[in-house]
Amino acid sequence: MNKFLEKYIQQFSLASGDSIFFPLCGKSYDMQWCIEQGFKVIGVELSEIAIQDFFTESEIDFKRSSNNNFNIYRSEHITLYQGDYMDLTALDLKDCKLVFDRAAIIAIEAFNRPSYINQLLAIIPSDTPILMISREYDQQRRSGPPFSVPLTEIKQLFNNPYQCRVLEDEQLSAKDGLQVLQRALKISKLAQ
Ligand SMILES: C[S@@+](CC[C@H](N)C(=O)[O-])C[C@H]1O[C@@H](n2cnc3c(N)ncnc32)[C@H](O)[C@@H]1O
Repeated sequence: MNKFLEKYIQQFSLASGDSIFFPLCGKSYDMQWCIEQGFKVIGVELSEIAIQDFFTESEIDFKRSSNNNFNIYRSEHITLYQGDYMDLTALDLKDCKLVFDRAAIIAIEAFNRPSYINQLLAIIPSDTPILMISREYDQQRRSGPPFSVPLTEIKQLFNNPYQCRVLEDEQLSAKDGLQVLQRALKISKLAQ
């Protein structure tokens, strides 16, 4: 369970039944936690094994269907799209009220991050905020993933009219002494 999600989710004023989007969701337990809090979850993940593991471990029953781009695993409170994130459309995410990006942007190589963010902003409703957990460290000392994604880069990727607000910085020390800054960010569109 991600402690930043638990700590900051109330900042987003969600109502029971609202949908939270998990890009590159893996089999994250955070999805089950959100369902337990009364929210709905939408996720996308390339790995069929990760999705099947999620349903096995959470003991949630599902129905499986397919469209041109995805195998779709659905139950009452969760829809997981198995396929390429870049194939999602705004229709798939029309009900999304929050994006939770944990280990998604930092899993992507620098050259692909603009496409990742451009796609995100194209498919979520324009007033949907993002809770992002990023990491920043000396990339010379470790190749990644997870990659270091500095705050300056995140601000450039989102750009006007988005505002990136740091909710919390946490200093972590890796076993090899590498200092890693873990950061919780609230990213939302400024009122025009
Ligand atoms: C580091 S894992 C993070 C999983 C999850 N967000 C978590 O917090 O545990 C990154 C995941 O992104 C998935 N992935 C990478 N590229 C993808 C793409 N284009 N579309 C969908 N999933 C993708 C990988 O299969 C992997 O499971």
